[in-house]
Amino acid sequence: MKICVFPSAEQMSKAGQELILRELKEDPSLALGGATGNTPKLLYGLLAQAAESGQLDLSQRQIWFLDEYFGKDMYYKYAINFLHNKFPKGKGIAVKNIHVPNGMYYFESQIVHSEILDEVLKKNRDDYEMKGPEVLIKPGAKHPFLKQLRKDTKTYEKSLPLKRVQILGIGREGHIGFNEVGTSDKSRTHLTVLADSTVEANAEDFEDGIVTRYAITQGSGSIMKAYLPVLFANGVKKTEAVHGLLVGDNPASVLRKHPNTHVYITADTLGEFKGSEIDKLKKKHEVNGV
Ligand code: PGA
Repeated sequence: MKICVFPSAEQMSKAGQELILRELKEDPSLALGGATGNTPKLLYGLLAQAAESGQLDLSQRQIWFLDEYFGKDMYYKYAINFLHNKFPKGKGIAVKNIHVPNGMYYFESQIVHSEILDEVLKKNRDDYEMKGPEVLIKPGAKHPFLKQLRKDTKTYEKSLPLKRVQILGIGREGHIGFNEVGTSDKSRTHLTVLADSTVEANAEDFEDGIVTRYAITQGSGSIMKAYLPVLFANGVKKTEAVHGLLVGDNPASVLRKHPNTHVYITADTLGEFKGSEIDKLKKKHEVNGV
């Protein structure tokens, strides 16, 4: 892994912008992998600035986002807002090139909210199996909507380009995408049950009063197939999760097995890592900034 520690979130995001500009310049066919959440907003703003100054044109690029809440198109709207609307006209990613897992399903002309999904799952136990938080819909699933969901997640997984710079944030308990604690490192795009801590941390996403406890997410295995995963984290709320990623065991720690993982973090996130622990890290990884 390449670990870079920056004094501030601004510097971290600037380095992210430079990395992405460099990578895209070298390979016109390279796609982006998008993350939502607060952490990458500064980065997206800097990419929009690069487009303003004529250094970047994303109009021919594809972007594949990590996840979506079940029963919502919130992250789809986020994606459009930050990668299309905030860019100068014609320089952002074209709406048709923005891909987000589908979270919107309809049953009897109503959006299937998380509570309806609860009911469907309760009544159709033969259609799926649980593996930790993963809800794995079986090939022979009978319920039409579960069948469709399985088909959609498979299609999304198959479409993911390997040649992509996968931007990542990290959750407080170490999730990447919505791969919560207990998800298999090899998981592919799937329906998942969100951890209570995720629902709590993302409370501002549910201002409409409809909380969802499910999401569709790329799997850890899907993320690991990307050519360049780059994870951003800043703030002390992420210290424990980042320590898990660097030396412990949480969903993000699978990234240690990827030969090209970049970890961009701020010094406050690294927190109380002692000199000897940093020395140990330096023996295994390239570490800059400390
Ligand atoms: P955040 O979310 O960037 O809003 O902290 C990160 C995540 O949950 O993956």
